[in-house]
Amino acid sequence: MGVTKSRIKVKKTENSRLHEVDALNINFGKHYSDHMLIAYYENGQWNPPEIMPFHNLYFSPATTFLHYGQAIFEGVKAYKDPQGNPLIFRPYDNLKRMNRSAVRMAMPEVPEEIFIEGMRHLIELDRDWIPTSEDTSLYIRPFMLAIDEFIGVRPAEKFMFIIITSPAGPYYNKPVSIYVQDKYVRAFPGGIGFTKAAGNYGMSMYPTQEIKKMGYDQILWTDGFEHKYVQEIGTMNVFFVIGDTVVTPDASNDLILEGVTRDSVITLLREKGVKVEIRPLSIDEIEAAHKAGQLKEAFGTGTAASIAPIYALTYHDDKMMLPPIEKWEIANWLKKELADIRYGHKEDVHGWNLKV
Ligand code: COI
Repeated sequence: MGVTKSRIKVKKTENSRLHEVDALNINFGKHYSDHMLIAYYENGQWNPPEIMPFHNLYFSPATTFLHYGQAIFEGVKAYKDPQGNPLIFRPYDNLKRMNRSAVRMAMPEVPEEIFIEGMRHLIELDRDWIPTSEDTSLYIRPFMLAIDEFIGVRPAEKFMFIIITSPAGPYYNKPVSIYVQDKYVRAFPGGIGFTKAAGNYGMSMYPTQEIKKMGYDQILWTDGFEHKYVQEIGTMNVFFVIGDTVVTPDASNDLILEGVTRDSVITLLREKGVKVEIRPLSIDEIEAAHKAGQLKEAFGTGTAASIAPIYALTYHDDKMMLPPIEKWEIANWLKKELADIRYGHKEDVHGWNLKV
């Protein structure tokens, strides 16, 4: 279809809301930038995307995604380099993952011309919305909805691809306390655990509400057969430093989300010469390492959260406290290294930053 930046129709807002943002106090998901992108899919093809002022959407109450959750999303971030140029971190990887989710959810794949060029154009237009204080960025949320006006259960034929953006501070503004879940299940082999489908998040609300009442921040999901092998935190992938080795669950069997931050962390650690093992990891092994004083660090990784240190991990009655976070060598190094690359303070040798 060849949608180039110049072919994207743009209607600019006449009333910017940028002044509503307190640049020194930015939370996650509170403000949405002036513009959004929308592309429609119908009759087997994508129509050219349009950029327009951010606005509410209007749907028939019979619309597919409202009932059956045929909906997927992504999370990407844009930063500003020291010269003030916007940089988007690894958006091609998000495009690939979005399209893996799309195939599994019987939705059309989004072409690069819409996802990447649309995103570049949108970020260029709303570049003043990219915050520059420490730990801030512009969170980019691409998503796709099935919009047939039909209440029968069948894959839809009409879809909407949308991108909205939101100035964001850290998703977790302090270290997190994690509860190891062995009652509810997030993902099974052959399921949709590897996708960013809306249902993966919807189903986590009730179990998360339960553990929040108990004083924990998030759930560490375990496998559905034995509740033994750890999977992910739901909003994040998870890493454990056991002795001198970094261990993270493998992404086979369609169980966990192949995070872009996860991949960046694995790459950076291996380049630094740190031993990284990607393999099944049981809660028994984590407990044994903790007892032996070998559980040195534990952290979540994700686009929204970046690197989120875990200060305590609770499994049944065993509350495993991690060593003081200031002393951690790996997570603290990773956090800085990733930030240096994303904010353009360090040479981007991997070609991860896309200039808009
Ligand atoms: C992300 O890290 O982008 C996520 O998708 C996590 C969450 C905010 C749903």
